[in-house]
Amino acid sequence: MKISVIGAGFVGATTAQRIWEKNLGDVFLHDIIEGMPQGKALDMMESAPLLRVESKIVGTNLFEDCANSDIYVITSGLARQPGMSREDLLNRNAEIASGVAENIARFSKNPIVIVVSNPVDVLTYLVALKTKLPKNRVMGMAGVLDSARFRYFIASELGIAPQEVQAMVLGGHGDEMVPLPRFSTVSGVSIEHFLSNEKIEQLIKRTRDGGAEIVQLLKKGSAYYAPSAAILEMVESIVKDQKRLLPCSAWCEGQYGITGQYVGVPVVLGKNGIEKILELPLREDELLALQQSARHVASNIKKLNLS
Ligand code: 2OP
Repeated sequence: MKISVIGAGFVGATTAQRIWEKNLGDVFLHDIIEGMPQGKALDMMESAPLLRVESKIVGTNLFEDCANSDIYVITSGLARQPGMSREDLLNRNAEIASGVAENIARFSKNPIVIVVSNPVDVLTYLVALKTKLPKNRVMGMAGVLDSARFRYFIASELGIAPQEVQAMVLGGHGDEMVPLPRFSTVSGVSIEHFLSNEKIEQLIKRTRDGGAEIVQLLKKGSAYYAPSAAILEMVESIVKDQKRLLPCSAWCEGQYGITGQYVGVPVVLGKNGIEKILELPLREDELLALQQSARHVASNIKKLNLS
């Protein structure tokens, strides 16, 4: 497996590290800043004897070195600063993502592409359009991260190990994301059994503001440990053909009444990318919230004036 991570900032470098340390394949870390990806990759390679990693990691400024990757993870672009929404990044990050997509189309045949840069649902659409790849081979990372945050908040509220908590957050990766408490459980038991409605609402709000909470604390830049762990989960499911059920930004063609755009829905992720979109039996209010979130993403796609 050849896995290229485009963008060697905090999210990109941490992602490359996690993928490389798990021996999922040879990792190529690309950035336009001279020396930076090379330095980070060399630093990681020097830890190989200690960590017993057998794969290699290479840092580069040349996209050609990332040619013919099986998987590309796009993290390049600006990160949020305090007070900014993900959508404030739209124009600049769209320009950057377009350039990366053109390079992917030029230097590879039929890869799988995971878009991470924000606003992720919009940029995933753009990358799918520019690479002309089959829509099931292009996806955005958001739902795994948002669900992990929700899971962690539920677990710490209950004093239960985070791994016992399952949760589902759908919709666009923004203020209108749709956490679904009805499909969130502690070892199979609905969280509604353990927590009051008021408490659940508080945890939902904290999940919606989860990215902003980190930005406020860091004061410079945005989260990267949980985002890179979320990307790893997706990459691993693809590399090992695990067919895990994960919420990802996926191309919808009628599912949930949404057509012709990317938005966060539960998918089966395997060696062919998105192999299936699962349609949960949503209540009317949940479905309306998801469709509203999708409309919001669509209105941002329009701002890009794509044909
Ligand atoms: C987050 O939610 C950066 O959007 C990312 O932290």
